[in-house]
Amino acid sequence: MQVIILPTPKDVALYAANRVVEVVTKNTNPVLGLATGSTPIALYNELVSRHRAGEFSFQNTKTFNLDEYIGIAESHPQSYRTFMNRHLFDLVDIDLSNTYVPLADSLDPDVLARNAECYESEILWTGGVDLQILGIGVNGHIGFNEPTSSFASRTRIKTLSKSTVEANKRFFAEGEFQPHLAITMGIGTILSSKSIVLMATGKGKAQAVKDMIEGPLTSMCPASVLQQHEKAIVILDEEAASLLA
Ligand code: F6R
Repeated sequence: MQVIILPTPKDVALYAANRVVEVVTKNTNPVLGLATGSTPIALYNELVSRHRAGEFSFQNTKTFNLDEYIGIAESHPQSYRTFMNRHLFDLVDIDLSNTYVPLADSLDPDVLARNAECYESEILWTGGVDLQILGIGVNGHIGFNEPTSSFASRTRIKTLSKSTVEANKRFFAEGEFQPHLAITMGIGTILSSKSIVLMATGKGKAQAVKDMIEGPLTSMCPASVLQQHEKAIVILDEEAASLLA
């Protein structure tokens, strides 16, 4: 694991964008793993600007998102499919049929389990993810792999922890149904990526970042597993790095 500390969230986004552009331009059929949430929005904005400036194309790129809520339609304003379309896919030249987000709009556990298995197979068939983008939860989660998730886990149904439900409350209106379940790539799935960039910004992430980098390798902080990935880069702004020794 390599740790890079930069002054501002903007610098973090620019650094991550450089890695993405490198992978997309150097590979004939690049495969990106993507995240949602507040942190990567600045990265997606930067990629859209550079794409529009003619610097590169997403035409041959495939993408696999980390996760999707169970129990809301793909077209729901808070679905991760909607998030990705709005912040990236609809704004660049990617073929939408090359963009994968776990299918989670059924409430039938057998259908959901099959969808999760198929997702894992789709990733394998493409030859695997070249670069996986990650954020980190305040509880140290990556994707929706909450504390105690197995390091060997693959794409599956996962119950969100209380702290994740609380952190994501801000996206749902008062009284609106908020999902407590998701389909997420597993930790084993994430570790199979050829390279990883985890972005973390702001004071709110400082403790999780300290646990990930300086703490023991433990399923209580799922992100600590990145200590074992040869090509994982953690990019932090000064606030997120503020508790590091
Ligand atoms: C999103 C995801 C999550 C987020 C994490 C941080 O697809 O899988 O692990 O990366 O919860 O979210 P933000 O960036 O909103 O703080």
